[in-house]
Amino acid sequence: MRDVILVTGATGTIGREVVRLLAGRGEAVRAMSRTPSRVPSLPGVHAVPGDFHDPASLERAVAGVTGLFLLTAAGPHVPAHDLAMIEAAVAGSVRKVVKLSVIGADTAGAPGSAWHAPGEDAVRTSGMAWTLLRPSTFASNTLAWADMIAAGKPVPSMTGDGRQGVVDPRDVAEVAVEALTSTAHDGKEHTLTGPELISEPGQAAVLERILGRPVTTVDVPLERAREQLIASGAGAEFADMAVSGFASVREGRNAVVTPDVEEILGRPAVTFETWARDHRDAFARPPSR
Ligand SMILES: NC(=O)c1ccc[n+]([C@@H]2O[C@H](COP(=O)([O-])OP(=O)(O)OC[C@H]3O[C@@H](n4cnc5c(N)ncnc54)[C@H](OP(=O)(O)O)[C@@H]3O)[C@@H](O)[C@H]2O)c1
Repeated sequence: MRDVILVTGATGTIGREVVRLLAGRGEAVRAMSRTPSRVPSLPGVHAVPGDFHDPASLERAVAGVTGLFLLTAAGPHVPAHDLAMIEAAVAGSVRKVVKLSVIGADTAGAPGSAWHAPGEDAVRTSGMAWTLLRPSTFASNTLAWADMIAAGKPVPSMTGDGRQGVVDPRDVAEVAVEALTSTAHDGKEHTLTGPELISEPGQAAVLERILGRPVTTVDVPLERAREQLIASGAGAEFADMAVSGFASVREGRNAVVTPDVEEILGRPAVTFETWARDHRDAFARPPSR
């Protein structure tokens, strides 16, 4: 029987790209979403419904699957969602799981560890072959700035001058596909970063140069950041985790660059500048309000 890889989070930033790359390699892919019609139509890709809140839907999604790319959406429910999907995979026929985690998940007390460490532990003890991917902050997070840039407004920056190894989501997806399609990364934990450290004001300066229009940042102190997150509808637990992440970056605790992407892919990791050039059009839209 042919190997089939289930990709969860298949309509999101990383999962969408994992699906595209697997399809390009001729793999049989099952792409899970709560709204399967949102999965792009590609050869070899079969969209299936699945909701982490509904264990029966996960059992159906994973039936007959041999490989799993496990991505759960950010939030305090990550541990419960990871565990539900791993339970379904173990009960089914899955032999290998690649879990998307977060940089620092293996460091007790680090931001993101509370969300991702339980799933990491469950993956390691699942009996399946496994790989853990711990990316730094995604270059694509700056797409949230697009409307403000288009409207000529400064973008709020929560992380001060703190620098991070901002990573291109395409690199993360390419590494995931390597791990899913070979045994070379079984039992390995990779921390995925870009090739250089850059702050949010630094990212703004790169965008300003590439877009040819002013891109400025305004520093938002942590207390204000928490208030703004709550006002925008985030729950208190989510806001607290986000603020502890911002504090960690401000204090230089996420100033980490690793060689993992280059070692795995055999070429340098993509810079923020290249990501920004490739996504220039996404910043060109008129303000939505
Ligand atoms: N952003 C960063 O800088 C960063 C850095 C490191 C690690 N991470 C980690 O990366 C992950 C997020 O990845 P991403 O940015 O690619 O995701 P994303 O773009 O936010 O997409 C989330 C995906 O999860 C799916 N989803 C949401 N709720 C679901 C549910 N109840 N049941 C089934 N599927 C559900 C969505 O699919 P549908 O809506 O179609 O169902 C969507 O495909 C998180 O675990 C986060 O901690 C993020």
